[in-house]
Amino acid sequence: MRINWTTLDNMSNNLLKGKRGIITGALDENSIAWKVAEKAHEQGATFILTNAPIAMRMGEIKILAEKTNSQIIPADATSVEDLTNLFTQSQEILGGKIDFVLHSIGMSVNIRKNIPYTESNYEFFMKGIDVSALSFHKMLSVAKKMDAISEWGSVVALTYMAAQRTYPFYTDMADIKAMLESIARSFGYHYGVDKKVRINTISQSPTKTTAGTGIKGFGDFYDYADAIAPLGNASAEDCANYCVTLFSDLTRMVTMQNLFHDGGYSSTGVSTEVMTKLGLE
Ligand SMILES: NC(=O)c1ccc[n+]([C@@H]2O[C@H](COP(=O)([O-])OP(=O)(O)OC[C@H]3O[C@@H](n4cnc5c(N)ncnc54)[C@H](O)[C@@H]3O)[C@@H](O)[C@H]2O)c1
Repeated sequence: MRINWTTLDNMSNNLLKGKRGIITGALDENSIAWKVAEKAHEQGATFILTNAPIAMRMGEIKILAEKTNSQIIPADATSVEDLTNLFTQSQEILGGKIDFVLHSIGMSVNIRKNIPYTESNYEFFMKGIDVSALSFHKMLSVAKKMDAISEWGSVVALTYMAAQRTYPFYTDMADIKAMLESIARSFGYHYGVDKKVRINTISQSPTKTTAGTGIKGFGDFYDYADAIAPLGNASAEDCANYCVTLFSDLTRMVTMQNLFHDGGYSSTGVSTEVMTKLGLE
């Protein structure tokens, strides 16, 4: 059976009707967060869009804000002050506690500057940790102190399988993603016990975005992963649909998990397609 994507794209089940959210990381229309905002809007959610003030200069986020009827609150995710303002203003604008949060933030200066893992610059490493992993802890800590997330609320961060297996070109981000996933488990325990807030990470296929394509050899790796995964690479749209299910009440007992969203890549040793490409089949 072939899936009719047009029908699926326009399908709204109002899964997020009445829910209020905060969506970080929509830089341009390729961003995973951009697709999440579109899907969440389709499913009846209202939300705030946020990104680092410097990323706003490109102005593309305004197009998304108009399209989804959302307001934008700039916040550097490494700043506790900015995050406090983000949660305060978001509750005021949306009219109550927050039901879902998407952490879709990643940046490594070592990757940007093409520095090999074994020669990592530690200042850049620390910056990467702060932006891509500690920001998640800061966000959750601010929200918990303010009691800004509703009971049974859902928080999702995006990660990559380099946290479990080595991908040489992913350099320091591998260690940083491992930390991000650990924060989801650790914080998920405490926030779960106190307020029934759920925290998960989605481990997504390689995706053609600004952050993704910034990694050396990304194009070849994208094709390799696509040839390994029985279903092929999962797209940003598919990832957004998965996020919507995690924000919805249909997954209310799922927490502290790292969930692979990769077309079966993480469970496949080798595929006949790759063997053929290597001339071994
Ligand atoms: N693209 C991929 O192949 C892939 C695969 C798995 C996981 N991910 C993860 O998905 C998430 C989203 O990345 P993307 O691929 O959509 O790329 P993207 O470049 O569109 O998004 C990254 C976002 O992080 C934001 N950001 C950077 N520094 C920030 C700061 N200090 N404060 C607030 N925001 C900041 C950027 O402005 C940008 O919007 C990242 O965590 C990334 O690691 C991406």
